[in-house]
Amino acid sequence: MTLLPPMRLSVNVDHVATLRNARGGHFPSPVDAARLVMQAGADGVTVHLREDRRHIRDEDVRRIAREVETRLNFEMAATDEMVAIACELKPPACCLVPEKRQELTTEGGLDVLKAGADLKAAVAKLADAGVEVSIFIEADARQIEAAAAIGAHAIELHTGTYAEGPLDQREAQLARLVAGAKAAAGCGLKVHAGHGLSFETLPPVAAIPEVVEASIGHFLISASVFEGLPTVVRRMKGLINNARGH
Ligand code: PXP
Repeated sequence: MTLLPPMRLSVNVDHVATLRNARGGHFPSPVDAARLVMQAGADGVTVHLREDRRHIRDEDVRRIAREVETRLNFEMAATDEMVAIACELKPPACCLVPEKRQELTTEGGLDVLKAGADLKAAVAKLADAGVEVSIFIEADARQIEAAAAIGAHAIELHTGTYAEGPLDQREAQLARLVAGAKAAAGCGLKVHAGHGLSFETLPPVAAIPEVVEASIGHFLISASVFEGLPTVVRRMKGLINNARGH
């Protein structure tokens, strides 16, 4: 087996905020989750501050940036508001994504070819602030070249079609990612990958030599529920028994 350079895991903690917001209080805190994933060996934390603030809020991003020793990847739409926040916070990295109000999650890659001068200006502002800029795109040669042409440092390959599409197309979708990663590296871009990755779908992506970071959220938070439930149920049952002298 070829020994590849290490690959970073950036854990997206958006859905910890989703749970917190469901009750309107402070628990569970995405800031505490960010600390915990770093203690567990993650290499970074990703948060997506959406225009509608449906999960992560401004204070969460600020606190993670200030209080947690991590490589913060600030996922954001390339709007004036978000660019201003990023330029003030100066996270080590940001990832520009398309954003629609009605979507449940990011639905596809950014169309860099159609995006025009505004996207290029946003990339330049962020780069000037010292932020490593990646753009979330499909594994498409023209999109990759366009991302390099507007000055991005990295791309994040959209792995959703590979990971969540029909099983009989998985191999072909993986081949697209492999080719995209090679093309991007050929353009001098760093290659990240993300969306829909799980214990099952991550390993083939992690075996792509050019991919240096995976960003994973929903599966990790969901799997944690099942891995964690037995522990917390045992503890609560113990507390009940104790309180009743058993
Ligand atoms: N990368 C990007 C650009 C995303 O928008 C998302 C979803 O927020 C992810 C990675 C993580 O995807 P998932 O939650 O499916 O792991």
